[in-house]
Amino acid sequence: MASSLQRIVTPVLDPEPGIDPAAEAGLEPASGYRPPADPRLAVSVRGLTRAFASNTVIDRLDLDVPAGQFVVLLGASGCGKSTLLRILADLDTEIGGDVRVPARRAVAFQSPRLLPWKRVWRNVVLGLPGRPDRARAAAALAEVGLEARAEAWPKTLSGGEAQRTSLARALVREPELLLLDEPFGALDALTRLKAQDLVWRLWRRHRPAVLLVTHDVEEALLLADRALVMKDGVIAHSVDVDLSRPRDVGDPTFLALRADLLGRLGVDAPRSVA
Ligand SMILES: Nc1ncnc2c1ncn2[C@@H]1O[C@H](COP(=O)(O)OP(=O)(O)OP(=O)(O)O)[C@@H](O)[C@H]1O
Ligand SMILES: [Mg+2]
Repeated sequence: MASSLQRIVTPVLDPEPGIDPAAEAGLEPASGYRPPADPRLAVSVRGLTRAFASNTVIDRLDLDVPAGQFVVLLGASGCGKSTLLRILADLDTEIGGDVRVPARRAVAFQSPRLLPWKRVWRNVVLGLPGRPDRARAAAALAEVGLEARAEAWPKTLSGGEAQRTSLARALVREPELLLLDEPFGALDALTRLKAQDLVWRLWRRHRPAVLLVTHDVEEALLLADRALVMKDGVIAHSVDVDLSRPRDVGDPTFLALRADLLGRLGVDAPRSVA
């Protein structure tokens, strides 16, 4: 009875029709991708190509990401950042070239993509093998400061809380590679700062390799070990962010890097306000 009711209700409640939140959360078993031959790498991509009809979005792209490195991916809208992330997450396999990624990886997107008919803790362990493990969900929720909301329904969460739940869902998989596609994009400025800080602390604690897509150059330079600029279907620029942490947005090196990256993105750095 319950399952037939769920079958009827589920499509109506689907937060984004056509999207399978379990698959989108990176919960599906790893496909044919193999890990990089070199254990020091989390990602190794050679000659990656992806075209949509006549539109070649990724064109013989090469990329290595060392294990544990925090990498930020910048680039103009439509240049192929999400396409690349989806490929690394194994959500898009119509590709040419060679992609090597670890089996344990997780994805979080701008929209948290929680199943509204499952309580928060069940969303966190969604798709994991075996019986839903509440203790495991609670531990991940505690890491993002949401242990008290374990029994809540997703629709009662604030935007920031929903995004933290999505991070807990990624963390519970203990990923070696964490793929984040504009995870803070829909958050207000203050919540965004807190979420950046949380991601940073979680990264310090667990040390996955991170590939974070953002449009915010300042955010990139606050968080990343390395910033990439994607253009014309390839990684057109890579710069190591050799700044001590915590980072100071007023530091001259920070400002110089920021101006350089903005220039490469085709944006002039704003002049100082008198
Ligand atoms: N499923 C698809 N079918 C056809 N074209 C697609 C598909 N997915 C992406 N594209 C096209 O590929 C290009 C790159 O899209 P993608 O979403 O990767 O860009 P993006 O860099 O993430 O942009 P944004 O910063 O706006 O999120 C775009 O021209 C887009 O229209
Ligand atoms: Mg995108």
